[in-house]
Amino acid sequence: MILAAQSDMEVVGEASNGREAVEMAERLMPDVVVMDVTMPELNGIEAARQLLKVVPRARVLALSMQKDSVYVREMLRAGAKGYLLKDSTEKDLLAAVCAVVTIGFARKSIHRIQWQSDELDRVSWHMLQSQEQAARRFSHELHDELGQSLAVLRSNLTKESVLDPESLRADCLHLVDESIANVRELSQLLRPVILDDFGLDAGLRWLAERFAQRTRIRVDVETECRGRFADETETHLYRIAQEALTNVARHSKAGNVRIRLVEAEGNIRLSIVDDGVGLGPDPGAVPGRPSLGMVGMRARARQCGGELTVEPAEPTGLRVEAVVPAMPADTKE
Ligand SMILES: Nc1ncnc2c1ncn2[C@@H]1O[C@H](COP(=O)(O)OP(=O)(O)O)[C@@H](O)[C@H]1O
Ligand SMILES: [Mg+2]
Repeated sequence: MILAAQSDMEVVGEASNGREAVEMAERLMPDVVVMDVTMPELNGIEAARQLLKVVPRARVLALSMQKDSVYVREMLRAGAKGYLLKDSTEKDLLAAVCAVVTIGFARKSIHRIQWQSDELDRVSWHMLQSQEQAARRFSHELHDELGQSLAVLRSNLTKESVLDPESLRADCLHLVDESIANVRELSQLLRPVILDDFGLDAGLRWLAERFAQRTRIRVDVETECRGRFADETETHLYRIAQEALTNVARHSKAGNVRIRLVEAEGNIRLSIVDDGVGLGPDPGAVPGRPSLGMVGMRARARQCGGELTVEPAEPTGLRVEAVVPAMPADTKE
C-alpha cells in the first residue's frame, strides 16, 4: 500500500510465500524485493538465495520482527542488501527501498563508466599505434623510394660528360614520373584525397579497387548515396570500411566481399560482408590479444552518433555494419 502510493514506484507483484516469490521474481524481474524473513513453504533465507540466483540484479530487503534475529544475519549472508523491522515507519520503508535502488543504480553506472574509460584507453592506444605505424611507413617510403629517385636524378643531372643525352633525359623523366606516383601514393596513404574531393561513394570505390588489386579478393561495391555527408561521418565510415577490409584480408580466407552503402530514413548504412570463415564459436577468445580493430570501428560508429554490429553472414562469413545518422555536409559541427 505504502509503496504502491508512490508515483515513481510500481508494485509489480505480491507473493504469499517464499516459493511464489521466487517464481514471480523470475517472471516479473523486479528491481527490489521486500521479503519476510519467516514465510510458509520456503523461508526468507532460502527464498532470497534462490531468487538472487534467477534474478541477480534484484535487491532484496529483509523484513523481520527483531533486528538481532539470527534470521536477519542469515538473510544478509544469502545476499539481502538490508533489513527493516516490521514496526518500521512508512518513511523508513521508503528510505530503505530508495537507498537500495540508488546504490544499485550508482554501482551499475560506475561499472559502465569504468568499462567505457577502459575501452577509451584501449582505443587511444590503438590510434597512437596506428599513427606510429603510418609514420614509420611514410618515413621508409620517403627514404627508400623518393630519396633514392632524387639521388639518382641529381647524379644524372650533374654528370660532366654525357655520351647519350637522349637516353639520360628519358631516364630522368622516368625517375620524375616515378617520384610523382610515389608522392601521390604517400599522400593517399595518409588521407585519401579522393574522399575529400568526391566523397564517401568514390572513396569506397577507390579503396575497394586497391584492395582487390592487392589481395585478389573480389570486391563488389554497391552504393546508393552519391551525396556528401559531414566530414567526420565520411572519414569515420571510410576508416571503418578500411579496417573491415584489412580484417577480411588478414583473417577471413574469403573469396568475395560486398560493400554496401545506402541511405534510408535519415541514416547511412554501411555494410561489409565477406564469405569467409566467420568469427568462429567464441570470437572473444583470442588469448592475450585485445581486438582493437573492432573496438576502434565501434568507437568510430558511436562518435558519429550511430552503432556498429558484427554478426555471422549467410551462409558463411562475417557481416560488419555501421548505421549512423546521415548528417549533410554543411551541418557538420
Ligand atoms: N572478416 C573476418 N573474418 C574472420 N574473422 C575475423 C574477421 N574480422 C575479424 N575477425 C576476428 O576478430 C578478431 C578481432 O579483430 P580486430 O579487432 O580487427 O583485431 P586484429 O585484426 O588486430 O586481430 C580477429 O583477430 C579475428 O580473429
Ligand atoms: Mg583488425
